Amino acid sequence: MPRLKILFPVSECVPFAKTGGLGDVAGALPKALAARGHDVRVVLPRYRVTTKHPQTRLPAPLGVPVGLGTAWTAVWESTALGVEGARAYLLEENSMFDRPGIYGDPSSAYGDNLARYTLLSRGALELCRYLEWIPDVVHVHDWQSSLVPVYLNTLERRGPLGRVASVLTIHNMGYQGWFGKDELFQTGLGWDVFHPRNLEAHDSINLLKGGLYNATVVTTVSPRYADEIRTKDGGEGLDGVLRDRGSDVIGVLNGIDEDVWNPAKDRYTAAPFDGADLAGKALCKAALQREMGLEERPRAPLVGLVSRLVQQKGIDVFAAALHEILALGAQVVVLGSGEAWAESFFTRLARETDRFRVFIGMNEGLSHRIEAGSDLFLMPSRYEPCGLNQLYSQRYGTLPVVRAVGGLDDTVEDGVTGFKFKELSSDALVTAVAWAVHVYRDRPAQFRVMQETAMRKRMGWDQAARQYEAVYRMAMGRRRSAAR
Ligand code: ADP
Ligand code: GLC
Repeated sequence: MPRLKILFPVSECVPFAKTGGLGDVAGALPKALAARGHDVRVVLPRYRVTTKHPQTRLPAPLGVPVGLGTAWTAVWESTALGVEGARAYLLEENSMFDRPGIYGDPSSAYGDNLARYTLLSRGALELCRYLEWIPDVVHVHDWQSSLVPVYLNTLERRGPLGRVASVLTIHNMGYQGWFGKDELFQTGLGWDVFHPRNLEAHDSINLLKGGLYNATVVTTVSPRYADEIRTKDGGEGLDGVLRDRGSDVIGVLNGIDEDVWNPAKDRYTAAPFDGADLAGKALCKAALQREMGLEERPRAPLVGLVSRLVQQKGIDVFAAALHEILALGAQVVVLGSGEAWAESFFTRLARETDRFRVFIGMNEGLSHRIEAGSDLFLMPSRYEPCGLNQLYSQRYGTLPVVRAVGGLDDTVEDGVTGFKFKELSSDALVTAVAWAVHVYRDRPAQFRVMQETAMRKRMGWDQAARQYEAVYRMAMGRRRSAAR
């Protein structure tokens, strides 16, 4: 099969920058595609946090039209993705990206995000000209690179890039990139795109909507979420757009980076272990209890949660259930950051209760140690496009207790590799945790079989990479026939 040239503009990508699962996906999928022989070029902003990775500055600057002028951007090339065939390009524009945050400060989004992600989207296309490299397909992600398909159908339509197919993956319908219409000039697009069958919604700019109307093919990160977002309840106001386009949304389940998330050789944890021998897991549990200042009790059920502390994740439901979960005799550790009420609620509770501990902030190492050291892992999400932590948990023999929505429903088998509940309520969560704790305490043989089954599951990226390959070819075919 001839190899494909794939342009991959994305707002976060491990190891360079990560706020959530998108970063994990963007770090792993290009590697899996490159391993299958494709030429993948990831483009992302050169944020302050990205500068510590090895990279080389290309000699000439890249001019990117943004607003009323041109942003003269230095281009840095990096092989830090770690495989031949997947290269990363970081666009440097320090007035926009040399800041502590990725999308904003803890309290609010940066006010110039439209200009910032115009620079990424237009910059990615300008970069193709600069490198004299015309891709077969552009794979864009969420609102941050949704302008790319709009450009391909407008400003780029008549040039060589006008033939390039685009695939938009929705990682999260809850974030759409809303901006006031008086900012349209930042994008360089004309008012002809400002209508409800393009990027206008409620008299404002909605970047994701523009992407959905303009992308050749739309995908999302699990089959179940693909169904949910076509309904009024799950569509976050954009379900009609998908129906309008008459398009199916293809659900391609995320994988996990099985090298990074591997209990047998995890560089962050106290001891290695695998499905055949869980002795190391007991050491990881003791180490986690010590690290978090919990009593070192081998048989106390240890429950972990690692999450953005936001509505989507059902953190309010978890907070309401916490006293009852602790009353089951469990120890609970939380790692996360997000809404102020949640951060202060958990911080206060940790001071009052010796079986609850929290770390507020991003901490990559601790996220691995919680996966490795816990017995159970909670994800009471309101909605969950895919979710990666329940996959990591299964790999680490930490049985996930999840709400049966989106990708959680697709990837956890109730009573086999984890525990599921349906209703979004603290009662339903407590009931599920109580059952899981009962199995852990009173049916250890069954718990052990579940751990083994979960740990044996194959969750790597290879299957998803094959599916994306098929999606890319389908998009290329459609784009060709549309051009005829
Ligand atoms: P989402 O992308 O919606 O946040 P996912 O489950 O897909 O949810 O991915 C979340 C990723 O972010 C996981 O890799 C998880 O370990 C990581 N993560 C979330 N919060 C933190 C944190 N405070 N510190 C370290 N990693 C975190
Ligand atoms: C989003 C979703 C999450 C998904 C991740 C990667 O942030 O909230 O469910 O796993 O993207 O696709």
